[in-house]
Amino acid sequence: MTTAVGGKERLAQVVPDAIAAIHDVLKRHDVRENEWMAVLQFLTDVGRADEFILLSDVTRTSVLIDALSHGDEDAATASDVEGPMYEEDPPWREAPVKIYEEYDGSENGEVLFVRGKVTSTDGTPLPDAVLDVWQTGPDGGYDLWDERQPKGNFRGRFNPVGESGDYEFRTMLPKPYTVPTDGPVGRYLEAIGQHPWRPAHIHFKVTASGYTPLVTQVFFAGDPYLENDTIGAVKDSLVRSPDRHDDPTAMRERGLDEPFLTCDFDIRLPPAG
Ligand code: BEZ
Ligand code: FE
Repeated sequence: MTTAVGGKERLAQVVPDAIAAIHDVLKRHDVRENEWMAVLQFLTDVGRADEFILLSDVTRTSVLIDALSHGDEDAATASDVEGPMYEEDPPWREAPVKIYEEYDGSENGEVLFVRGKVTSTDGTPLPDAVLDVWQTGPDGGYDLWDERQPKGNFRGRFNPVGESGDYEFRTMLPKPYTVPTDGPVGRYLEAIGQHPWRPAHIHFKVTASGYTPLVTQVFFAGDPYLENDTIGAVKDSLVRSPDRHDDPTAMRERGLDEPFLTCDFDIRLPPAG
């Protein structure tokens, strides 16, 4: 075990407590050898399937750690869980930013423009910020498993435009989807009777030199899973109601022959430290 993050003192504080808590549960529930061996086999399977982040998410441990890690500074945009679907090197997108290519299935979706300003918590524009966004397509699939989508679809990294810190990107309204259910975590969800659905959302990771990075998600009002996200990550301040535009002039100005949606999401980063 590495001690690089917290050091030996931190381990000496936390580990005995964690073990005592586990022992307490085992005693209280009179857990026997066959059950404990099944637990160890499950954890072995989770490791082999590379599903520990997913397990942390669906047990809502990630949400707890997010809350413990990020103070409730009202002026800053609320943080949220990153989840396991982030890819390290997303496509760089130039303005006007569009984060997807059409594919067989795009016709099921509505075009959405997400826009806002990246500023510090005191309102200073941050034009050099880097935004990373990722989401499912309109059928609820990530490029990682939806074979119709090219790699990098519905992902993008880009800067705000100009000195004002304003950003905008074109995407499609995502849909609710289930977390992966074909591995050990899926078996666990089935066994304890927890549904695997997440409300539709768009992930953001925003960095700017001298500021605390922000990882968060945006959700959409009216989604059937807002109240019971399987990872419990919905925060009221992150829910938006997109506006619908069906005026032909507005559509033409956007180069579209179909109605579209817009959604405003300003991002405020606290100074580093
Ligand atoms: C996601 O939002 O990408 C996600 C979060 C937790 C588990 C699986 C997926
Ligand atoms: Fe997601």
